Amino acid sequence: MTPIVVNSNALKSMNNFKLPENLGFGSVLTPVMIYSDYQNGEWGPLKMEPYHDLSINPTMKVLHYAQEIFEGMKGYLSPEGEPLLFRPEMNAKRFNYSARMMAMPEIAEETYLSAAHAITHLSKDFIPRESGSSLYIRPFMFATDTSLGIKPSETFRFMVIASPSQSYFKPGDLNVYIERHAVRACPGGVGTAKTGGNYAASLKSSTKAAGFNCQQTLWLDAIEKKYVEEMSGMNFVAIKNGKLITPELTDTILAGITRDSILKIAPTLGLETSESKIRINELLEDFQSKKASEAFACGTAVIIAPISKFVEENKTEVPVSISTGEWSMKIRKYLLDIQEGRINGPQGWSVKVKKTY
Ligand code: COI
Repeated sequence: MTPIVVNSNALKSMNNFKLPENLGFGSVLTPVMIYSDYQNGEWGPLKMEPYHDLSINPTMKVLHYAQEIFEGMKGYLSPEGEPLLFRPEMNAKRFNYSARMMAMPEIAEETYLSAAHAITHLSKDFIPRESGSSLYIRPFMFATDTSLGIKPSETFRFMVIASPSQSYFKPGDLNVYIERHAVRACPGGVGTAKTGGNYAASLKSSTKAAGFNCQQTLWLDAIEKKYVEEMSGMNFVAIKNGKLITPELTDTILAGITRDSILKIAPTLGLETSESKIRINELLEDFQSKKASEAFACGTAVIIAPISKFVEENKTEVPVSISTGEWSMKIRKYLLDIQEGRINGPQGWSVKVKKTY
């Protein structure tokens, strides 16, 4: 793995680190950061420093043209207290996919992974033990050229920070607003990349959703506005006629690693799966006629969160998790059992964290 140049103050900063009682999500940060700078066509050394504010030139390209990508990963503690990562190579590969989509340089997977292992290893005494809580790891990369010309940057920074976090939603907290006007991503665009602009594009609708007491927007396809896509920071899954259904991946949906994992483990639990186009109106009718019984959001941050109801702009409500999310909770438990090292998942999914610094 790529070696890391460690500033001794970074290790010292861990000595004074204490977790507050209420962690929330993404607001308590491990007091170190790991980074590498790209210039003249190559990545410099990986460095570990105490967590600190960055000094940013006002013309830095990321501030104006949003040339930026990120990932979300999680570190867990096994019952023996060993730190684990879940399918980290998948995140490294998706990071480089996003980099290509955003005209940014790829980073060697072993460099990406070395940073992810290092920050998890360093934070191992601060990974919350409560099931569903974890170390949320945020690798990201941004354009650092300083000039207002609109063209791909030639310099970049790659960084990894981490946050001991609780689950993203409190159980039973998820109402979903069906967005029938605005769109998140268009065919031929960058909807499959994990880039800030896609999340920025979701914010206006999320404010509207909040006005309907909804915590997420359900996005439909940009052309016909008929087919379910995803929910901004998470993918969409439903249970219909006892089968797990999820929208097939298109060039406007982010290929979630949790989504992929669920599709792979559902058959083990005796649940058939199908990836296809899902018509929103048909789905709502299916919930009304009880052909469909559950729907849930899935993603790294959210894990699996059962949806309570869908809400339309005219305030029509369609209740969703009729059977209190029986399958949702069963899959969630199975996934967490693998992620938290209680059972063995498929080969290579749960990876023991190495000390790479
Ligand atoms: C993740 O699940 O890691 C995400 O990226 C969602 C995030 C926007 C909270």
